[in-house]
Amino acid sequence: MVFLKKRILSISLMVFFLACFRGWAGDTQTLVVFYSHSGKTKTACELIAKDLKADLIEVKDLKNSSDLINWYTKKDKHTMEAQKPDAAKGDRPKPVMDTEISPASIDFSKYSRIVIGSPVWMGGLAPAIKKLLSHYRLDRKKVVLLTTATAIVQFPHQKAYKDAVRASGAEVAAYYQIRVINDQKKELAREELLYEARKLLPAIRAVLK
Ligand SMILES: Cc1cc2nc3c(=O)[nH]c(=O)nc-3n(C[C@H](O)[C@H](O)[C@H](O)COP(=O)(O)O)c2cc1C
Repeated sequence: MVFLKKRILSISLMVFFLACFRGWAGDTQTLVVFYSHSGKTKTACELIAKDLKADLIEVKDLKNSSDLINWYTKKDKHTMEAQKPDAAKGDRPKPVMDTEISPASIDFSKYSRIVIGSPVWMGGLAPAIKKLLSHYRLDRKKVVLLTTATAIVQFPHQKAYKDAVRASGAEVAAYYQIRVINDQKKELAREELLYEARKLLPAIRAVLK
């Protein structure tokens, strides 16, 4: 009887410590989650995920039709013309800001460090990433935010992006941006884009330590 009690006690203790260890070690992984329509953000995020040995999740936008994207791409491939007031008066299709995303559910519980990648759309984070940030609680997670855009993202926009991340409960460890065109307004080739992304790796590693 005493032996049985001891046995039950030791098994209970083992289960308890295992549960504690799981809880402690369970959210130590790193995730790179991104939305990308034309592949720029994807290219950068894949590189970062590989470097960090992180899981990688691509978020898809289920509502924003290719009309909007085609309009932007056709009308203004390499310039910020779309941002000018006269262009805004034209036939610009409106993005669906309150979009739906897939996968339908992401388990963030095992991640303590997250890199979020988003293109800039109409001056803001892509609707799919906005949706992600409003849908999930990322309390106390360390987030590195990365945007890609044709323009250089100025301070007020940077602040708005970081605020959107903070509103999910996460801590913004750092914000980085990659401009996907060069000074001659030519789109960066894949190798050039990878070069820009590679330059960010030491800093990302350091802030997510
Ligand atoms: C609908 C739409 C809106 C965009 N709006 C902006 C913008 O406001 N400012 C900017 O610098 N780039 C803008 N871009 C360009 C993208 O941010 C840029 O090409 C980005 O790197 C694309 O990322 P992706 O290849 O991962 O989709 C826009 C692109 C699209 C399709």
